[in-house]
Formats: sequence, C-alpha cells, structure tokens
Amino acid sequence: MDKFIINGGTPLRGEVQISGAKNAAVAIIPAAILAADKCILDNVPSISDVNVALEILADMGASIRRLNKSKIEIDTSCILDGRVSHDLARSTRGSSYFLGALLGRFKKAQVPLPGGCDLGSRPIDQHIKCFEALGAVTDLQHGIVDIRADKLIGTQIFFDKVTVGGTINALLACAMAEGLTIIENAAKEPHIVDLANFLNSMGADIMGAGTDVIKVKGVQRLHGTEYSVIPDQIEAGTFMVAAAATGGDITLTNVIPKHLEPITAKLRKMGVTVEIAKDNDNVRVIGTSRYEATDIKTAPHPGFPTDMQPQMTTLLTIASGTSMVTESIFDTRFKYVDELRRMGADITVDSRVAVVKGVPNLTGAPVKACDLRAGAALIIAGLAAQGTTEIEDIYHIERGYENMEIKLRNLGADIVKRQFDEEKLRKAL
Ligand code: EPZ
Repeated sequence: MDKFIINGGTPLRGEVQISGAKNAAVAIIPAAILAADKCILDNVPSISDVNVALEILADMGASIRRLNKSKIEIDTSCILDGRVSHDLARSTRGSSYFLGALLGRFKKAQVPLPGGCDLGSRPIDQHIKCFEALGAVTDLQHGIVDIRADKLIGTQIFFDKVTVGGTINALLACAMAEGLTIIENAAKEPHIVDLANFLNSMGADIMGAGTDVIKVKGVQRLHGTEYSVIPDQIEAGTFMVAAAATGGDITLTNVIPKHLEPITAKLRKMGVTVEIAKDNDNVRVIGTSRYEATDIKTAPHPGFPTDMQPQMTTLLTIASGTSMVTESIFDTRFKYVDELRRMGADITVDSRVAVVKGVPNLTGAPVKACDLRAGAALIIAGLAAQGTTEIEDIYHIERGYENMEIKLRNLGADIVKRQFDEEKLRKAL
C-alpha cells in the first residue's frame, strides 16, 4: 500500500510539462482496433488506465511496441477475438469503448460492464441504445454485455442526456457502418474532437465533432495512422489550482489554453493571475496569499468540468467568504469532503450541493483518496496545508496522473511516495 507524504507550505515554482490526455488516450487506444493495421500514437500518458487499455488489446492478440516514453506502436491486424476479461474491464471506465470498437470491426463484442471511479450510478443505457439503433442486438448475462449485428446501418441517434462515453462509443460503432449516422445531443469535450480527428486520420468521414450534432458517413475500411494525443486539460487544471493554492508561480507547457478556458475564468474570478503566452503554447499561473469565494456549477463542455470540481472545491476552502459548489453530472462526487474536513475545511454537503466556508488555512492530516480527482484534491490540500499530510490509496491517483509526485517535486514541493509493506507492519506490531 503506497502513500504520499506531503509537508505543506512550499509555494510551487518553475515549469511543468503536461502529459497527454487520459480520457482521449483511453478512447483512441481501442479505436486502433478499427484500423486492423499499425497505428503509431504519440503523447500517450504513462498511467495505469492507459496500461489497462493496452493490456486488453494485448490480451486479444494485438502487438504493442513502446517506441519511447510516450510513443507506442499498436498493430491490431492480428486480433481475432472480441472478448475482454472481467478483471481488466472492471478496473476502468474506458473498457466500455471496446464494445464500440469491436462491434465496428467484427460486428460482435463481449465486454463485461465497466468499472472506473465510484461517482454514483454510471449506467451505459445510452451506449446500448446507440448500438441497437445501428442494428445490433444486445444481451446482458452474468455481467457481460454481448452485442451482435449482421450489419451496422447508419441512422439518427439522439442521446437523452449528454454522455461522453456514449458519444465515443457511437463514433466507434458507426465509423464503418453503412451510410450516414447523425449523432444528436453529442458531448463536445476536447477528447471527443481528438477521437474524431484520430478516426479521420485513419480514413473516417466525421464532421461536426465539438458541436452537438456529429455527422458520420460510414466508410468501408480504415487504415493505420500516426497521431499525437492532445494534452490533458484536467492534469493542467490540477497543476493550475495547486499553484494557486500554494501562492506559487508556475508555467505549464504542452497545453491548449482554449481547453482550459472554464478553469482559467474561475481562477481569475477568485483573484489568481493566469497569463496565456502569445504563441498560445504555455500558460503561467501566479498565485497570491488570499482569494475571493466564488460559486461553481459543473456542466458538460464547455461548462466547468466535473473532473475539476474536487480540486477547485479544495481551493475554495481557503478563500475569503462562502462559495456554493453544485455537481450536476454525478450523484456522489463529494465523498472526499470528509477527508478535507479532517484537514480543517468547513464544508457542508446537501445532496449535490456543497457550501464551502473559507478558513484561514488547512492543517495536515492522514487522509484517504476515494477516487482519482478526489486524490488530486487531497494532494492540493496537502501542499497548501500547514504540517504533514499522508494520503492513502494513491493507486486512484496513479490511474490518471503521470509521475505526479516527481512533477511536483521538480516544482519545489516536499512530497514523497512511500511504499508500506502491510504484512511487515503487522508482524512488527
Ligand atoms: C467520462 O465518463 C470520463 N471518463 C469521466 O472522467 C468524466 O468525469 C465524465 O466523462 C464527464 O465528463 C472517461 O472519459 C473514461 P458520461 P463517462 O457518460 O463517459 C449519465 C475522470 O476523473 N449516463 O458523460 O462515464 C452518467 O451517469 C473521470 O477522469 C447515463 O445516464 O461520463 C452521468 O450522470 C471520471 N447513461 C452523465 O450521464 C449512459 O448511458 C454523464 O456521464 C451514460 C451516461
């Protein structure tokens, strides 16, 4: 059981390079199945969710070669089987994208229901609705989704609610369907656009990604390609908030400032200085000693991202005044609040609304990460707090942040990863 140990109070200073986007990479890796060919992917983050996606591919017979730290060659020509094992599927949400990709190529797929962060109910009814609209028949037995189709025929798909995963699966399933598919009420996140760009680079004909209506003209086959994944908007946002919370001054490189706009706007409103370089390829964040409270309501892109809600709530705990944070995407994304309370935060939660009363400072405490972004929020809290914070269950954090503690140490933070051997500890007691 590994832990992060943080001695808080040091302002972050220096430059940090942002890695490739987790949520784009975990969609693009299964999409490579559709090529039945070699794809070279660059700017792939080295995180455990990506490793799981690669392991699933390797399990199916794909050959995977790491060309360097962030560059991978995937050859999916030799995949024969469209099954995903229970253990691998249950560890990430992105495993559900193998449904769309396998269905698109083989017209059949068997994938156990996905896992991922526990944020409340996370059904896949909209994904299934889309596969069925394209002509597939689905069955759920023993936790495994079984889909089959004689052929996939382009159609009109209207999502009842905006869903990132549903939109990704729709793109994967209809890229090679017969005729035109129109996806309405589509998600507009940067990683949806990235997946569409990747598929187009393989020969797909997709227009409108990034708007709420996406048109896909099915093509007969796709081919291999070379593609670079976009930078991670949420990793960047997390470092921006960490710089603000510690009163630091950092420059983020390998970012797309446009993707950071909802985060930048809120930080500026609180009194954080955010400077965007003229050539648009880096962002400088200059913190101060006290911020103004503000209200936040999460919403699908281009609204404030739910994946930045825990990190921003943490910054609000040390702002002047009272803020209201409303979570509109997931049922239970405030579980980390109990941990922040251990550190002195004054937060009350009623269903999907948190009322945050700013306190002068947080104090270090032993805490537990309950999911990926909750873990990131606790790191920010630990960096800003007086004294020592020990964070348990950091495997959640390692699912989505590449070398988080190394990047923070390079910015001057006092953070180390300790490996605790539970067995040894028990014997010593
Ligand atoms: C993706 O999850 C991300 N995961 C999440 O990233 C992110 O929080 C979320 O989108 C919202 O931006 C990946 O990309 C792997 P949704 P996803 O489908 O696809 C409901 C992170 O920290 N819904 O947009 O699961 C659902 O319950 C994470 O990196 C249905 O009702 O999100 C939720 O309330 C965690 N039926 C809402 O829609 C469906 O069929 C949005 O979910 C699908 C979704």
